[in-house]
Amino acid sequence: MQQLDMETPAVKAAIQAGLDLQRIPAHIAIIMDGNGRWAAGRGLPRLIGHRQGYKTVRNIVREASDLGVKALTLYTFSTENWRRPEEETTGLMKLIGEAARQELRSMYQNGVRVQVSGRINGLPTEVREELQRGIETTKSNDRIILNLAINYGGRAEIVDAMRIIAAQVAAGEITPEQIDEQTVAAHLYTHGLPDPDLLIRTAGEMRLSNFLIWQTAYSELHITPTLWPDFTLAHLVAAIDDYQKRVRKFGGVVSS
Ligand code: IPE
Ligand code: IPE
Ligand code: MG
Repeated sequence: MQQLDMETPAVKAAIQAGLDLQRIPAHIAIIMDGNGRWAAGRGLPRLIGHRQGYKTVRNIVREASDLGVKALTLYTFSTENWRRPEEETTGLMKLIGEAARQELRSMYQNGVRVQVSGRINGLPTEVREELQRGIETTKSNDRIILNLAINYGGRAEIVDAMRIIAAQVAAGEITPEQIDEQTVAAHLYTHGLPDPDLLIRTAGEMRLSNFLIWQTAYSELHITPTLWPDFTLAHLVAAIDDYQKRVRKFGGVVSS
């Protein structure tokens, strides 16, 4: 295990809560939901809620990294989110591009490796370029992978994988019988990442909303009513505490 800095607020909070620092989930995935409700509750435009959500992202990336989490996947914009009013999708794209630009230096300095899962070619050019710069600049970092799910849909991801695999079969490179679960996983946007150990959803909805539908087959789920802009280190620690109390069986039998 990588040496943790025991003086960080995250590690102090984890110890205080009695977490087992040897069993921190390696990959946490988060459905960051509730920005709109956070804003509406204050009589503010939805985009202010998204801006507030960005602040939470900054904190959570640092805290997860301090706790020794190796990969953090954040559901940032879904393929279905294009159904929202144009003002909101444009504002979100602007915010994503701005955030990518603003955070680049600190990501680089803090050992964060940025990756993107999703149909990156379907993003506005400026956003795609900022993200590509981030991916390129941080590619040698190895403290934590920040995997941003942007223009991401679980079904779109499986369709994209199927197209590549089908082309390989058509070209005679592989036979249908050679396709197994590893083949599929290797062609998902998330190839190379372990499956999420823990999936957190904020704002209380009891659904996946097309997020990592292949990869979460055996993830532990933690759904909190807390809205994403209100999600703090204490909530992250509570989610990990919940995770550490689960018995993971993967379909087998665990002797007590
Ligand atoms: C999540 O917050 C952020 C995105 C989907 C981009 P929402 O915008 O979905 O917030 P609610 O669900 O309306 O409260
Ligand atoms: C999921 O939240 C997408 C992101 C958090 C980016 P939504 O707010 O889009 O999900 P639904 O519409 O409530 O299922
Ligand atoms: Mg929502």
